[in-house]
Amino acid sequence: MKVALVTSSMPLAPWQNGITRAFSEAGLPTELVPWEDRHPRSTIGARYALVWLPPAQFFEVERDLEVVFNLGAGVDRLLANAVVPEHLPIVRLVDAGMAVRMAEYVCFAIARATRGLERFGPGGLRDWNASRPRGKPPTVGVLGAGAIGSKIAEAAAMFGYPVRVWSRTLSTFAGMEAFAGLEQLDIFLAGSNFLVNALPLTRDTENLLDRTRLSKLPQGAHVINVGRGATIVDADLLALLDDGHLGGAALDVFRVEPLPDDEPYWSHPKVIVTPHLSGPTPVAPAATQIADAIVQLERGVPVRSLPGYVDRARGY
Ligand code: GLV
Repeated sequence: MKVALVTSSMPLAPWQNGITRAFSEAGLPTELVPWEDRHPRSTIGARYALVWLPPAQFFEVERDLEVVFNLGAGVDRLLANAVVPEHLPIVRLVDAGMAVRMAEYVCFAIARATRGLERFGPGGLRDWNASRPRGKPPTVGVLGAGAIGSKIAEAAAMFGYPVRVWSRTLSTFAGMEAFAGLEQLDIFLAGSNFLVNALPLTRDTENLLDRTRLSKLPQGAHVINVGRGATIVDADLLALLDDGHLGGAALDVFRVEPLPDDEPYWSHPKVIVTPHLSGPTPVAPAATQIADAIVQLERGVPVRSLPGYVDRARGY
């Protein structure tokens, strides 16, 4: 059984090695064929494809595919570019070790802001009497209750922050306030001192956080984006940072990536820009998740029942 691998901007060798190992551990008799190594017009004849940002040409040539696995959590670009033929099921990674790293990033961004850590370091304060936070911990509002959002919420709660979670349909977590649907978004925002976006980018979440919605956040609130850039209307976020309503932002994802040099975020005094590094996909757990899924498929389990099966109408 042939499996095609398209890693694009991600380095090929670790994926090739990790997937080969996971397939062999799962007892899958597969031949893993990297697309990059081949003349673009020759056909691998693969039944499964493991892809990250594949070119449309790949699907024009590979006609025998049965299922496409996305080597990441977000499928927005895969769906937006319409490169995957409509009949082909897509399965995305669910957590696979990304969520805990993203939770770490978010909690660090919160701690950095609440303790004013940016004041210290080379060239910064040398003041043993520098102010320390002593008030009650701020409320962390997490947008998204999937594998990533729930891990972030859990981590923030573990550090003692009051946590509230908003999602499309109601998800409840012990000890956290839960909100669902657009009708509860404003009230959720009104109580979130740190707003964390962990939503997938879909028709419904694109530009969700515009000026009106961001204005509902309490005075001095911070925005942390580890989901997708296009969920936030950049000009609106910048305006609210500039007029003093918002206290700061830590942004890891952007509408256009790499973030263009002339984007105001780069030099904004209230913004931390990181280059989409909050949740790199760890190869070993991702490869194991995909190998397990292929074992299931080979046993006749319907693709729709796999974790990470993408409902195209829903957009994730
Ligand atoms: C990263 O952004 C991913 O979608 O996995």
